[in-house]
Amino acid sequence: MFLKKSLYPLLPKSYNFGKRRNTFRKTLKYLEERNAKVLVETGTARNGLNNTKSDGASTIVFAAWAAQNGAFLYSVDHDLQAIAMAKKEILKMELEDSVEFVNADSLPFLANFEQKIDFLYMDSFDYDKRDKTQQRLSQAHHLREFQAVKSKLHDNSLVLIDDCKLAGGGKGKLAIEYMREKGWDITINSYQCLLHKKVLSEV
Ligand SMILES: C[S@@+](CC[C@H](N)C(=O)[O-])C[C@H]1O[C@@H](n2cnc3c(N)ncnc32)[C@H](O)[C@@H]1O
Repeated sequence: MFLKKSLYPLLPKSYNFGKRRNTFRKTLKYLEERNAKVLVETGTARNGLNNTKSDGASTIVFAAWAAQNGAFLYSVDHDLQAIAMAKKEILKMELEDSVEFVNADSLPFLANFEQKIDFLYMDSFDYDKRDKTQQRLSQAHHLREFQAVKSKLHDNSLVLIDDCKLAGGGKGKLAIEYMREKGWDITINSYQCLLHKKVLSEV
């Protein structure tokens, strides 16, 4: 049993969320406090609940939370196989009323998204621990995702970025630099990085 690393009672005790467990837990608590309803993730849980420790199984985590909190998750992935794997688990857990899968490239999807977004999770273009070209492409893609979607975020929105504390700066390096220039602050600086919009005091 991995009770210490689990997201129990949201998901069964036997699932180990490793280095993401605490950030998931805290993020979900903030979402509850902010009454988040529209959740969007880029990069679907391509192994369902099988890779909770290595990939995160984010789709299942956010869909389970959405089902319990009257919210809804949109999960975009350009790989149909990734969607098929996540969908299988979602159906098994009877969470299908809380999530919509979109088989598309994340950039046009985000640019054309028509609702205000309360929570954005960015975890698409894979980051490589050694390959610097792949690192730069991943960082540029996550920056472009944020730029494509930023007008749909509001003062109470939260943005979580995966795979940040890695050699070369991780997936969020460029997106976080840009977000900070645009008035966002880091709430949690860990393997996953959570950001909120700075609350500006009235003058
Ligand atoms: C690291 S995995 C996502 C892991 C998932 N969030 C989890 O917690 O299990 C990255 C996913 O992003 C998808 N992806 C990569 N580039 C993409 C793009 N431009 N648009 C949409 N999906 C993309 C891949 O197909 C892959 O399934």
